[in-house]
Amino acid sequence: MSMAESAMPTIESGAPSGGDAPCGSGNVSGGDASGGDAASGGDTGSGGDVSGASGGDAGSGGDAGSGGDAASGGDAGSGDGADPKAAMPDGAFPAAAAPDEVGRSDAVASIAVSATLAANEALASKRRAGIPVLPLAFGEAGLPVHAALREALAAAAGRGGYGPVAGLTPLREAGAGYWQRRGLPTQLEQVVCGPGSKPLLFGLLMAIGGDVAVPKPSWVSYAAQATLMGAQPHFVPTPPGEGGIPDPYLLTKTVKAARAAGRRIRSVVVTLPDNPTGTIARQSTMRRLCMTAAELGLTIISDEIYRDLVHDLVNASAGDALATAAAAAAAAPSPATIAPDCTVVTTALSKSLALGGWRTGIARLPDGRHGVALRDRLLGIASEVWSTPPGPVQQAAAYAFNEPQVLTDRVSASRRLHSQMARAVAARFTSVGAQVPFPQAAFYLYPDFGPVREQLRLTHGVNTSADLSALLLDRYGIGVLPGSAFGDDSPALRLRVATGMLYGNTEHEREAALSASEPLALPWIASTLTRLDEVLEDLTLSGSSGRRMPRPG
Ligand SMILES: Cc1ncc(COP(=O)(O)O)c(C=O)c1O
Repeated sequence: MSMAESAMPTIESGAPSGGDAPCGSGNVSGGDASGGDAASGGDTGSGGDVSGASGGDAGSGGDAGSGGDAASGGDAGSGDGADPKAAMPDGAFPAAAAPDEVGRSDAVASIAVSATLAANEALASKRRAGIPVLPLAFGEAGLPVHAALREALAAAAGRGGYGPVAGLTPLREAGAGYWQRRGLPTQLEQVVCGPGSKPLLFGLLMAIGGDVAVPKPSWVSYAAQATLMGAQPHFVPTPPGEGGIPDPYLLTKTVKAARAAGRRIRSVVVTLPDNPTGTIARQSTMRRLCMTAAELGLTIISDEIYRDLVHDLVNASAGDALATAAAAAAAAPSPATIAPDCTVVTTALSKSLALGGWRTGIARLPDGRHGVALRDRLLGIASEVWSTPPGPVQQAAAYAFNEPQVLTDRVSASRRLHSQMARAVAARFTSVGAQVPFPQAAFYLYPDFGPVREQLRLTHGVNTSADLSALLLDRYGIGVLPGSAFGDDSPALRLRVATGMLYGNTEHEREAALSASEPLALPWIASTLTRLDEVLEDLTLSGSSGRRMPRPG
């Protein structure tokens, strides 16, 4: 059922019917004893925590109809969401109003500006007012565009016409080669291009249909996108220390509870490596997740946008701190290598090559019949929403996905820089008593201020992650995101800290950071880290100290 590139696909009415389970356990490779662990809860520290599975979201739990949306639940303080800055003090960025409070169209209309983008706006306005800020909220790789990419884009500027819905053949070929080099043989027909991986993810959620299981915590947009399409996100806690993957045992519980309540979860999202925690799921957990998804007939959506920025493989057993992308792929395998018939993979150049503003991403559809059907539905949606990805950008992206040496060197240099910065910032949070999962990839940290909770409560009146992020912004000009924006439990004092914007204020500074052997010693970076030291020290000083820092501005 492969489709001519220019042909206009038809959208089947909605998603596959409930009985149309795309995946079965026969489609999962390496289904061994580790699969059995999933059913028993085995070695997952949280295995027995059934209520945790439904906590926050499904707490209303299996009760799909009633506010099963953690993203919009608990912390949805302001709810109007019209003005990101107004929402900021509460850290309240509801994905949408709860479906039982408003009709579907109202719920969709009330989607607020994405938490990360809103925090960025709030910091920008402080900066415009001359208040010193530390930008730790926005998940951007703040690095310059490589000269070779600028040239490739300029050379394609004359491509003004529309192109095929699925994307230009050179980009799809380059995407197939990219995955081939990471152990995933890929046919041209399996590759669909889009204007960023975010719209591709949305198109995939729509094409698959039904509710979606997402890790708790997870990137802000999965739950918001599910809500936008009138479905329900079901947050499933991740195993301790392994971000981006729903605990397989708790996933089973959640799916069954949802079914009993009349909801049908059809997909599960995995983020490999993870945003917000900067960690990587273990191979054994990924295998169990694949077995579980196959047993439940779920399509796995594997968001691998940070795949090439793995800088530590502690949990993945391959040792070398700055391993190549291929070694990283082998050590932390994509679920598509384990469950090829059930797994869609998305990636982009936004993070590895700092091209978020170019809006380019690619998806690899599953092998087999399910993949073909899903592709047809995705193309139908794409044809009605974005028609075709931007032509010149696709040409330049094709060059990038072919991975010439100049660009793999560039990705290696940024991986090294992200690693150094993430570790340095993690050490600072740790030194004031926060617990920080060791950063393994990208430029994210997920510190937990639980150990100093009492001190923060007594000194600053902080009780929730939203209180803490608001305090950091208002008092110290530091932008971070509360864990609650990622579906985490609001009382937990966890924050998402993004370190990718600390490399400098000018292109020149950022370029220098990339090529420096000791980037943290560069004066503008050293002073940023010193400022962070001062703030964190002040934040965690006990209330009786008279040495408190003055408020900025
Ligand atoms: C986990 C994750 N997936 C997807 C995206 C979307 O990236 P883009 O639409 O730029 O490809 C982001 C961006 O922050 C992300 O963090």
